[in-house]
Amino acid sequence: MLHKELKPFPKSFLWGAASAAYQVEGAWDVDGKGVSNWDQFVRIPGKTFKGTTGDVAVDHYHRYKEDVQLMAEMGMKAYRFSVAWTRIFPNGKGVLNEKGIEFYSNLINELKENNIEPVLTLYHWDLPQTLQDEYGGWESRKIVEDFTNYSVELFKRFGDRVKYWVSLNEQNIFTMLGYQMAAHPPGVKDDKLFYQVNHHANLANASVIKEFRKYVPDGKIGPSFAYSPAYPYTSHPKDILAAENAEELRNHWWMDIYAWGQYPKSAWTYLENKGLAPIVEEGDFELLKHGKPDFMGLNYYQTTTFEENSIKGGVGAGEMNTTGKKGTSKDTGIPGVYKTVENPNLEKTDWDWNIDPNGLRIALRRITNRYHLPILISENGLGAFDKVEDGDVINDDYRIDFIRTHINAIQEAITDGVEMLGYCVWSFTDLLSWLNGFQKRYGFVYINQHEEGNHDLRRIKKKSFYWYKEVIESNGEKR
Ligand code: BG6
Repeated sequence: MLHKELKPFPKSFLWGAASAAYQVEGAWDVDGKGVSNWDQFVRIPGKTFKGTTGDVAVDHYHRYKEDVQLMAEMGMKAYRFSVAWTRIFPNGKGVLNEKGIEFYSNLINELKENNIEPVLTLYHWDLPQTLQDEYGGWESRKIVEDFTNYSVELFKRFGDRVKYWVSLNEQNIFTMLGYQMAAHPPGVKDDKLFYQVNHHANLANASVIKEFRKYVPDGKIGPSFAYSPAYPYTSHPKDILAAENAEELRNHWWMDIYAWGQYPKSAWTYLENKGLAPIVEEGDFELLKHGKPDFMGLNYYQTTTFEENSIKGGVGAGEMNTTGKKGTSKDTGIPGVYKTVENPNLEKTDWDWNIDPNGLRIALRRITNRYHLPILISENGLGAFDKVEDGDVINDDYRIDFIRTHINAIQEAITDGVEMLGYCVWSFTDLLSWLNGFQKRYGFVYINQHEEGNHDLRRIKKKSFYWYKEVIESNGEKR
């Protein structure tokens, strides 16, 4: 639909930005923190870009006051951050570390004093290593109890001040990279296990949402899903079917469970025939029904285009571009199901991610029409190389263009009838990009942190910082 006039953003719209503990905090072994799977994984040679670690990251742990002051200066309405499980329970369970509670409590207070709504993510990929060692982490149903106990502790401690909660961040991504591509911990390639791990994560997600209702009855909770809407390459019905396959297996597989507690039918049948469907125990679907979220958290970066993939000789696992050298990623697929293909209508970033603001509007409408849930955009942003010019100036006009066009898409979606809670740009400050090091930058605030050379961690406001400030001030009118 082409609209002559667009609806304004709601007055309560949460203009925000986001981060994750491992990517910003540093202080990896400070104040009683336990070792996480990422603390260990980054030490395996060849796993991350130039061997980068989050040992120091951007030192937010020690500089959070300075960072919150910058957020306040920008007029930010919401800040999404995650809690490192290992700061609260160094071994994942058992003895609680009060120092960890204290850190997040101080951060939350600092945000509230500056009128910034805290949006707390319970799990953004940093699993206590002891749980991985003891029972394989997400590979065991034991994780449900431990994750629930940890989450309940946070509900009790912070539920009075935190009203927006994200349960799991991008379950589809951490399990795919961890169990299908071996690119994230625990570095495994096992399709059967992948689906089983996901079933456990679904149970854990539902279990914490069920508990949340008791402890924070006036709060809102939802998962953050990495949704890349599937496009067919051509109007040939075979390509349309390939895109449908992708939509079911890569998207509905998770979102249907979150919203309805059910797996999509044809994806289930396909996996069952292949012997890949997860083992479901009595009572599982009952629990999953309690997982209905208050909103769908949407992490949107790009769309993906699909075409038919033959059974014999079809394209299999592809390759990611983690260097920023354009054109180095390779298409991926499942023989007989789908394969990805370049979309000739879209520009790409240096890391080969499609730039597609209309895709965001499509994502918002598809989620709304299928699930009838409000949406919080919990991530969206541009990873790019930034250059510091004389006088500590960073002219990141490309980032402004990216965010502006995506905000246009949100306003169009609001006009289409989508209920939006807010928009958290990834990210507030520059941070560690898991596999891509510090050179892939997302922030409104530059941080002088690099794999090599001078890195005094000083904060520099980019051009986009001043621009987003005006967007917020005008509730999205001025952009
Ligand atoms: C999301 C994650 O996948 O995308 C973030 O939730 C991540 O943690 C972001 O940093 C961007 O991805 P990348 O690989 O460019 O850092």
